[in-house]
Amino acid sequence: MNIDPLTGVLGAQINDVNLNDLNQHQINELYHEICVHQVVVIPDQSLSPEEQTRFSHLLGPYSPVPFVEPIPGYPEVIKVIKKESESKAFNFGGVWHSDFSFLESPPAFTILHALEVPTIGGDTVWTSNCAAYEALDDESKDRFETITCVHSASASYSPKQQSVHSGLSGMDIRTSTEAEETREHPLVCKHPTTGDKSLFFNGTYVRGLKGDGINSPEDELNLLIWLHNWTTHVRFTFRHRWSNGDVVIWDNRSTQHVAINDYSGQHRELNRTTVAGKIPSS
Ligand code: SIN
Repeated sequence: MNIDPLTGVLGAQINDVNLNDLNQHQINELYHEICVHQVVVIPDQSLSPEEQTRFSHLLGPYSPVPFVEPIPGYPEVIKVIKKESESKAFNFGGVWHSDFSFLESPPAFTILHALEVPTIGGDTVWTSNCAAYEALDDESKDRFETITCVHSASASYSPKQQSVHSGLSGMDIRTSTEAEETREHPLVCKHPTTGDKSLFFNGTYVRGLKGDGINSPEDELNLLIWLHNWTTHVRFTFRHRWSNGDVVIWDNRSTQHVAINDYSGQHRELNRTTVAGKIPSS
């Protein structure tokens, strides 16, 4: 495989591969490259929902998708779609997050396949939580080892958010009081494949913090804001402009992402599958 890094921090493109026809050596190499580059772009693919499911299984078992109904007949595939008439609607994935970090075992990888994307706009941006960790000073690295993040889907999928999601007529998103449940993961986690440390943080699902130096709600809020601003700084990011047929695979253990809602009057449609991960650990 020819791997072309796309920034000095994260992201790489692979051109000479057909995801419907991979041998075991290529699967192993692809797995490794996703972990190392954190986001991998593979253009010019044509995967039916069945083929995308089969390809996902080559990287690992299915990771359950809460709150979002799959497309009929394909229980592991969700459609990310905003129609041209839905200009004012919220963009699915339109705030910085890593996928379903509030689960006990969040997904390792997400695979997004572009079916029909805007000619201009609708880019996705990723940030490297590994680069954000590495850039810390030693004192912060030591302190952050003591911090636990309290993850929850409450800000996105509690029933009071239903009207936000109902603006997307092509997606069936069902909010629930289960979104109020919380799950704790360490702030500093070690990647199970690369061994690299990252700040396993995203401002959407991390709703609370515990640990050294957090003695009041004000301390907690200040650190939440600081972590959001630090981890999403432009120097840690990579931005992808989609073309139809692109497959982008990202590692949720080491990245956050956001889908930009700047394509008013245009249709954007992609199919998404997720691959299971382990319980995050430091
Ligand atoms: C997502 O957050 O899974 C969607 C990202 C995108 O549509 O670019």
